[in-house]
Amino acid sequence: MRTIAIMNQKGGVGKTTSSVNIAAGLTRQGRRVCLLDLDSQGNSSAHLGIDLNASMSTIYQVFSGQKRLQEVKQLVKKNLWIVPANIDLAAVEVELVDAQGREFILKRAIESFVQQMAGNEFDYIIMDCPPALNTVTINALTAATEMFIPVQPHYLSLQGLSRLLETTALIKRRLNRNLTITGMMLCLYETGTRLAADVTDDLIRFLEESDPSSPWAKARIFKSRIRRNIRLAEAPSFAQSIFEYAPDSAGAHDYANLIEEIIADEARFKLQIPQAA
Ligand SMILES: Nc1ncnc2c1ncn2[C@@H]1O[C@H](COP(=O)(O)OP(=O)(O)O)[C@@H](O)[C@H]1O
Ligand SMILES: [Mg+2]
Repeated sequence: MRTIAIMNQKGGVGKTTSSVNIAAGLTRQGRRVCLLDLDSQGNSSAHLGIDLNASMSTIYQVFSGQKRLQEVKQLVKKNLWIVPANIDLAAVEVELVDAQGREFILKRAIESFVQQMAGNEFDYIIMDCPPALNTVTINALTAATEMFIPVQPHYLSLQGLSRLLETTALIKRRLNRNLTITGMMLCLYETGTRLAADVTDDLIRFLEESDPSSPWAKARIFKSRIRRNIRLAEAPSFAQSIFEYAPDSAGAHDYANLIEEIIADEARFKLQIPQAA
């Protein structure tokens, strides 16, 4: 099983759009995917058609110790489960401030989930992180083995990025030795602009020149760039992934290519997909 946190503390860079469409796209290739919505705004839950006003159990109950992951997951499409979030999750930051071992709540919840499924677990757990380096995010990065970082090619994005990488290095040292930054995804990419190309070059150089012992030393920039495409912004209102909403769009094309790259990494991350899947 691959456990991937999609994280950037900057908002509006494509975390949720990527989480939902990568999850949905992987299921089209026969993978079983559980998406954990870790943002109290509940954007990925809403994108998959969960009614945020309905009373239901969410990831909040997992953080507060009232429910287990297996009790709050919902099947939304074939092979695709979501553990929804809503505004309740915001309370976690205050409620857990002094709790011992608070960084490990999600990791333990996933471990017990996997154990209970006894070999019948998901192929992927994908975590849509909030736009903050908060307790919930630290839980995600402690539970994950991989991190994908969506980056919007603007100069200001690179500033936030070094902060994120330093925090990741700290989490790797203190909480999760198994964490790897698999790659950066260029999202909201404006084709044909100098800015996007220049920032991309800077990012490539930055990775090439980085210390080989850093957690991002082996990170790459995924070749598939996710272009700005209005269909991607429209799909959530129809509770559909891009593959259902606009299968011929540039957005569907770009995410399909990205998913091929993700699947190509499965052997490296020791994920075996049964032939029958
Ligand atoms: N490639 C894209 N093209 C057009 N709009 C996009 C694209 N990616 C994301 N969006 C839109 O941009 C906004 C922010 O994206 P989102 O995925 O919610 O970012 P985050 O989760 O990082 O805050 C949303 O309205 C989303 O629909
Ligand atoms: Mg989001």
